[in-house]
Amino acid sequence: MKRIAVLTSGGDCSGMNAAIRAVVRSCLSNGIEVIGVQKGYLGLIRQHSERLTTKSVSGNLKAGGTFLQSARCLEMLEDSGRQLAVENLKKMGVEGLIVIGGDGSLRGARELQMRGIRVMTIPASIDNDIPFTDMSLGVDTALNNIIRAVDNLKDTASSHDRTFVVETMGRNCGYLALVAGIACGAEYALIPESSYDLNAICENLQRRFQEGRDNSIIMVAEGAGKAQDIAEQIKDRIGFETRIMVLGHYQRGGSPSSFDRLLAARFGVTAVEALLQGETGKMLGLSCGAIIQVDLEQVIHGGRRKIDETLFKLSATLGI
Ligand code: F6P
Repeated sequence: MKRIAVLTSGGDCSGMNAAIRAVVRSCLSNGIEVIGVQKGYLGLIRQHSERLTTKSVSGNLKAGGTFLQSARCLEMLEDSGRQLAVENLKKMGVEGLIVIGGDGSLRGARELQMRGIRVMTIPASIDNDIPFTDMSLGVDTALNNIIRAVDNLKDTASSHDRTFVVETMGRNCGYLALVAGIACGAEYALIPESSYDLNAICENLQRRFQEGRDNSIIMVAEGAGKAQDIAEQIKDRIGFETRIMVLGHYQRGGSPSSFDRLLAARFGVTAVEALLQGETGKMLGLSCGAIIQVDLEQVIHGGRRKIDETLFKLSATLGI
């Protein structure tokens, strides 16, 4: 194998740069040329790419986002777009492609593999909803971002006897809200995986303040409700002046945590090694501390990753 291409696709996350760097350094130490494709599959279709050297990735290990940029590419949903991507890869003399991204990106990679391209993929999405991996790239940094924000909110909430409703990302998956809730000592984590009773929550909030507790934190995953609506309902029901914080895209940025840097290094190097060993059509995953390879076909049909039951039990025991 003489030339490998790498791209980042879908929603960005912290650790993508570190993974690109690991791919580049691993390729170069194996005497392989690396091509960086810009803006994900869009760059493949539009032929926007550049040769990467160690200088291209110098200093970007600690930077959030992705210097190759990312995009959600509608053309990759059409056969014509997929075919064009394959033709362009062949024209570029690319013999292996590494895709770093979330579920849509993995589906795109599978389509290219079915058209004869050798692909390896790295799961990257703050939602942690990709199956067959304990953690996707970017999740740990996003959790640290949330925790930092909630710790600050608790300071000001305590000064004013206030309740804060904090909205995290997670359209279909409450992992971030639940785990951050546990890590921050929140009172509630409202997530799409379970129903909640706002009357019971309001009663509990009143009881807490009667007991002299000076703050309450309610985490809500975006798929379980809007912070603004929940805050208004609390005000309507019990008259509490409730403040909100919608964390939004803040969660996706920032310098990667040590966990994400190490995961990115392990994923990036393993992806290159796997291609060199003749593997294709696989997603890398983290399973009980080890890097594993799973067939993309299985991942794509594996549904969304479910939140570990033990986390539900943990949060119940801790009174979240
Ligand atoms: O899929 C990751 C994610 O961060 C979701 O949690 C969120 O709903 C979505 O991306 C936001 O995407 P966009 O960048 O398109 O606004």
